[in-house]
Amino acid sequence: MTEFDGLPIRDDLRGETPYGAPQLDVAVALNVNENPYPPSPSMISDVAAAVAAVTGQLNRYPDREASALRADLAGYLAKFEGVSFDPSLVWAANGSNEVMHQLLLAFGGPGRTVLGFSPTYSMYPQYCRDTFTNYVTEPREADFSLDPEVAVKAVRSHRPVVTLLTSPNNPTGTALPIDTAEAVLEAASEHGGLVVVDEAYAEFRRPGTPSALGLRERHKNLVVTRTMSKAFAYAGARVGYLVADPAIVDAVRIVRLPYHLSAVTQVVATVALRHADELLAQVAALRAERDACVEWLRANGFSVADSDANFVLFGLFDDRHAIWQGLLDRGVLIRETGPSEWLRVSVGTPAEMTAFKNALLEVTRG
Ligand SMILES: Cc1ncc(COP(=O)(O)O)c(C=O)c1O
Repeated sequence: MTEFDGLPIRDDLRGETPYGAPQLDVAVALNVNENPYPPSPSMISDVAAAVAAVTGQLNRYPDREASALRADLAGYLAKFEGVSFDPSLVWAANGSNEVMHQLLLAFGGPGRTVLGFSPTYSMYPQYCRDTFTNYVTEPREADFSLDPEVAVKAVRSHRPVVTLLTSPNNPTGTALPIDTAEAVLEAASEHGGLVVVDEAYAEFRRPGTPSALGLRERHKNLVVTRTMSKAFAYAGARVGYLVADPAIVDAVRIVRLPYHLSAVTQVVATVALRHADELLAQVAALRAERDACVEWLRANGFSVADSDANFVLFGLFDDRHAIWQGLLDRGVLIRETGPSEWLRVSVGTPAEMTAFKNALLEVTRG
């Protein structure tokens, strides 16, 4: 806890601590929903060549509009999600964290409310704090699904400027039926509110779960956010994006810092998009590993939330911190987050998952 004694810091930031899970040096890090697979040798050499080429122009500011990258992101969505968008509907920034931050800079503010459904992503209150926006939550059901009637009622009573629907949701892994998203979009449009569907983990969803991208044409108040941090195994590159009506993109362009996305980031992202086939093959392997992990946990008597993401929420533990610590003592770092009796593990390589399972049995069975 930092008091910032003697500093003229904003009163509401006094006592706050920087956000973030511990970055510990452990053998098996399964705590921040990273993709465990590093880039392939061919991708590394393509990235290196692209960075070398752009380095000769680093005396110049980058393309403020990131036009080539936005066109390539639209191409990726057309090819892999089957939905075509003009690049003017796509916007990119340094991770979907920055995309959300920009959205709330443009649409949040004093006297305005953002609505989320808890438990959900722990950064949402922070974006709201930073933009002086009121953050309210309504609860999910016991199985972490969202009751459409509860959601619609909440939208009508809070009249949020932005409703956050996270699908798949973090930390629960729960995907949202498309009908629920549509009901919320309709309810929000009654008072002119936006609905952000945070699809950071969309590529990991199970077959039969559609993306909200397909709703864009019918619902002009929809924003879908995505990231290259997870499916593209590119958390270190910091690239996120959104798809929304061009007027929403224009509003975000007002508040973005000039040249927010470096020339290096823009080319490095473009190269990864060219390797989408190979990267998405790894996503398929991770989905299979995730399903195996859910099955294994259930077979061993744990409660497990259905997961459409690259992580699994499991429990129930009277003292989850002791379990977390026991795993850490065995070199396996997972995340103490979400409801108090649950823990979250990110899906790693087969060897990492074996280490996790062995450590968990040791800690819980003694
Ligand atoms: C639901 C959700 N949204 C957004 C993000 C932000 O991802 P990034 O800023 O790396 O794109 C995360 C990261 O874990 C997340 O879980």
